[in-house]
Amino acid sequence: MAFELKNTVPWGRNLDEYRRMFKLTDSDLNKRIISFGDGPASFNYEMTMLSKSVVSIDPIYQFSKNDLKIRIKETKDIVIEQTKNNLQNFVWTKIKNINELEQIRLSAMENFLQDFENGKKESRYINHEMPNKTDFDNLTFDLALSSHFLILYSQLGLEFHISSLTEMLRVAKEIRIFPILNLDAKKSELPDNLIRHFEKDFIVTIEKVDYEFQKDGNEMLTIKRN
Ligand SMILES: C[S@@+](CC[C@H](N)C(=O)[O-])C[C@H]1O[C@@H](n2cnc3c(N)ncnc32)[C@H](O)[C@@H]1O
Repeated sequence: MAFELKNTVPWGRNLDEYRRMFKLTDSDLNKRIISFGDGPASFNYEMTMLSKSVVSIDPIYQFSKNDLKIRIKETKDIVIEQTKNNLQNFVWTKIKNINELEQIRLSAMENFLQDFENGKKESRYINHEMPNKTDFDNLTFDLALSSHFLILYSQLGLEFHISSLTEMLRVAKEIRIFPILNLDAKKSELPDNLIRHFEKDFIVTIEKVDYEFQKDGNEMLTIKRN
C-alpha cells in the first residue's frame, strides 16, 4: 500500500528531549547516528548545528516542504485536543502545560522545516519506509535510534518489528528505542517478545531514563552486539 501523507500525524521532538529519552552522553553525541522514524523532529537540525553526524530516515521525507507544512498545521489542533482530553495520561513536570507543549513541538517542527530542503540535499533526510532494507553498508553507524515510532506503533506487529530491528542492527553497532509503551500508554507483549528474539545473539537491556511525558514511559530498550 502506498504511504500517504494524509494518514500520518507529524509531531516532532527536540535535541534536549532526544538526549534525555536515549541517555545520550557527550561522547554518544560524537558518534555516527542514524535515527529511524525521525519525522519532523529537530534532532537532526540541532545536531548538524553542533557539527555532529545524524542521518534521519522516514517515508514522510518523500513529500515537499510545503506539503509537510500543511500536514503539520492540519494535525496540530487534533493532537493538542487529544492531549487535552487525556491530561491524566501525561506527566506535567518538565513540560508544565498544554501551551508549553504546543510551543515546544511547533518550535521543533519549524526548525525541521527550515532545515529540510538543505538536509535532503546533504542526504541527512532520507525517504525510506521500514522494514525495507536500507542502502547502507553493514555497521555504517555507531548508534541507531527510534523515538516514538517502533514499539509505540505496536499495531505494526512482531514480524515488522523483528525485520526493522534486524535492519537497524545490520547498519549500527547499537540500537536504542524509546518509549517501550504503545499508543494507549500500556506495555504490550511486544517488548518481551523482541527481547526473547534478540537476546539469543545480542546484549539486550531495558534502562530507566530521565524523560517521562507519557505516564510510566521512562524506559528505553537497548540492543548491542556481544
Ligand atoms: C510520532 S512520529 C515521531 C517523530 C520523531 N521520531 C520524534 O520523536 O519526534 C512517528 C514517525 O514515524 C514515521 N513512520 C511511520 N511508519 C514508518 C515506517 N514504516 N518507516 C519509517 N518511519 C515510519 C512517521 O512518518 C512519523 O514521522
